[in-house]
Amino acid sequence: MTTVTKRIVVLAGDGIGPEVTAAATHVLKDCAAEFSHHFEFIEMPFGGAAIDRCGAPLTAETLEACRAADAILLGAVGGPRWDALPLEKRPESGLLGLRKQLGLYINVRPIRVRPALLDVSALKPERARGVDLEIVRELAGGIYFGEHRSEGTNGNSRASDLEVYTAPEIERVAQFAFERAERRGNHVTSIDKANVLASSVLWRRVVTSVGAAHPGVKLDHMYVDNAALQVVLAPKQFDVIVTSNMFGDILSDGAAGAAGSLGLIPSMSWGLGPSLYEPIHGSAPSLAGRDVACPIGAISSAAMLLRESFGLHTEANAIEHALDRVLDHGIRTQDLAAPDSTVVGCTAFTSRVRDALQENFSHFERYGWGV
Ligand code: IPM
Ligand code: MG
Repeated sequence: MTTVTKRIVVLAGDGIGPEVTAAATHVLKDCAAEFSHHFEFIEMPFGGAAIDRCGAPLTAETLEACRAADAILLGAVGGPRWDALPLEKRPESGLLGLRKQLGLYINVRPIRVRPALLDVSALKPERARGVDLEIVRELAGGIYFGEHRSEGTNGNSRASDLEVYTAPEIERVAQFAFERAERRGNHVTSIDKANVLASSVLWRRVVTSVGAAHPGVKLDHMYVDNAALQVVLAPKQFDVIVTSNMFGDILSDGAAGAAGSLGLIPSMSWGLGPSLYEPIHGSAPSLAGRDVACPIGAISSAAMLLRESFGLHTEANAIEHALDRVLDHGIRTQDLAAPDSTVVGCTAFTSRVRDALQENFSHFERYGWGV
C-alpha cells in the first residue's frame, strides 16, 4: 500500500456546514490512521462566518491556504443573517470567488440511488432503482459571471444578468464530460435552450464538434425544460449530463429528488487549482446547531476527495460501503425517516458510519486489500 502525505483545507462555512464537515473529517482521519496516511487539516474561515470574523466571505489568507492545499473540503455557505447584504458581499459571493480564483471550471455531481433508500426516493421504485448519473456542470462562466446590473428606482427599476459563453469555455467542459463518459456508460446528454438562447446555440455547436472526436460516445441534445421533466420521469436514460452553470445548478437539485434527499449528494469542483469537494446542499439554517443534519453528502464528498484527488480507491470504496451498511440497518437521519427506520442525529449517524468503517478495515486486513 502506498501511503500519502496531503494537506486538506477545511472550509466549514455556515449553518450545518460545521456539523457535516466535522463528520467528514472524522471519517478521513479514520482512513488516515488505518492506512498510515498523513493528512494535515487546516481550518479556515469562509462564507458568513468569515464575514462576521474578518469582514469578507473570502479573505486573502483563506484563498492562499486553498491555493497551497492538495484538496479542499467545504460545508455550506449562506443564511438569513447575511441576506440583507448586497449580492457582492454575501457569503455566496465568497464561494463564487473561490471557484473563479482557483480556476475550478467544472463541477461533477454524481446522482446515485442507494438501494437501501429506494423508499425515500421521490420516484416510484421502478423509476428510481439503478439510477446512476453524473451531472457535469460548467462552473466558471455563464450567467453567474456575466455582467449583473441594477438601475433605476421603484417603478423605473431595471435589472439584468448576462449569459456569456465563449467557445473555449464550452470546449473544455465538453471535453471533460466525454472523457468521463468514456469511463462510464459512453453516453453524453448535453442540455441547453438552443431554441431560444444564442449562448445555447453556440453551446450545442461546440459540444457537437467535441463529440465528433469521441465516436465511441453517444451524444444526445436536450432542451432544459424537457430535461427537468426527464430527470424525474426517466432518469435512468442518463449517463453523463453536461450543461451550463445555471442549468446545472437547477437540474442537480431536481435530480437529487430521485436519490431521496438533497443531503445525500456529493460534488467535486475541478479545474486548474486544487479540487474542492462539498455536499450540494445549502446551509439549512433551520437545522443548524440541532445535530439533525444529514452528513451523507459531506461524507460521500470526502470519499470522492480520496478517489479523485489522491487516487485512494480502496479507502473511498470503504467509506461508501460503510455508508451503505449503516443505511442497510435502517439507521437514518430525519430527512430520510421512514416508518421502520431508526432516526438518529448527525453525530450518532457518523459514529455508526465510523464503526462500519472499522468493520470494513478488519475485513480488509483479514482477507486482503482491494476486496
Ligand atoms: C450550489 C449552490 C451555489 C451555486 C450557491 C450557494 C452560490 O447553490 O453549489 O449548487 O448556485 O452554485
Ligand atoms: Mg445549488
